Amino acid sequence: MKFFLDSAMVDEIAYALDMWNIDGVTTNPRHVQASGKPMLQVIREIGRLVEGTDKTVSVEVNPHYKTVDEFVSEGRKLAAIHPNFVIKLHCIEPAFKAIPILARDGIRVNVTLIFSATQALAAMRAGAYYVSPFIGWKEANAEETCSLIEDIVDIRDNYGFETQVLVAAVRNGRQIADAAVAGADIVTAALAVYKDAFDHPYTRDGLVKFQEFWDKSRYE
Ligand code: E4P
Repeated sequence: MKFFLDSAMVDEIAYALDMWNIDGVTTNPRHVQASGKPMLQVIREIGRLVEGTDKTVSVEVNPHYKTVDEFVSEGRKLAAIHPNFVIKLHCIEPAFKAIPILARDGIRVNVTLIFSATQALAAMRAGAYYVSPFIGWKEANAEETCSLIEDIVDIRDNYGFETQVLVAAVRNGRQIADAAVAGADIVTAALAVYKDAFDHPYTRDGLVKFQEFWDKSRYE
C-alpha cells in the first residue's frame, strides 16, 4: 500500500520524501492556507520536489466551482503546470462528466470528498484515477468506515475499474492498518499521524531495558 503525505508544507514533504520515500502528496484548500503561500506558488514548489519521479501530487480546483466547464478549464490549467499533478474534483454531479473529458487530454482526476460507496462507484465508472473516501470525517461523526473501504475495493474489483482507492483524512495508525487490511491502494495522512503510527511506547520501553543490559555487558 502506498503512503501519501497530506500536506502543502514544502519542508514536511521534503522530510517525508527523504525519510520514508513517500509515494505521493495530496493537498487541499486547508493545507494551502496553512502553507501561508499562494496556491499556484506552493503547488509549483511541491512539483519541483517530485520532479523526474512518478510520484503524483493531487491539487484541488476551486471548491466554489460547480459546472463542467469550470472543472475542465481549471483542470487543464493546473495539469499544464506539472506532469505529476492529479486534479482533485469534489464529488458533485458535474465531476462525472468532466472526468472523461479531462481523461481524453491525458489528465488524471482524484475525486475528493467521497463519503459513500455509491459516490465512489459513480466516480470510478466515469474514469477517476483516484477515489478519496474521507474516513476521518466519518469516524468523527461516529460512523464505521472499514466496511466503506471494503465495499469500494470490492466494487472496483467486481467491475475491473482501474481506479486506485486512496483512503483520506486518516488520523491514526489503526486506520492505516485497517485500510491495508481492506485492500486500499493508498492512504494519505499528515506527517504527525505517520510519526505517531511508526512509534510505540513498548518499543521505547524495550529500548531502555536493552540499553541497560548493553551497558552492563562486554562487547569483546
Ligand atoms: C485528502 O486528499 C484530503 O486532503 C484530506 O485527507 C482531507 O482531510 P483533512 O481533514 O485532514 O484536511
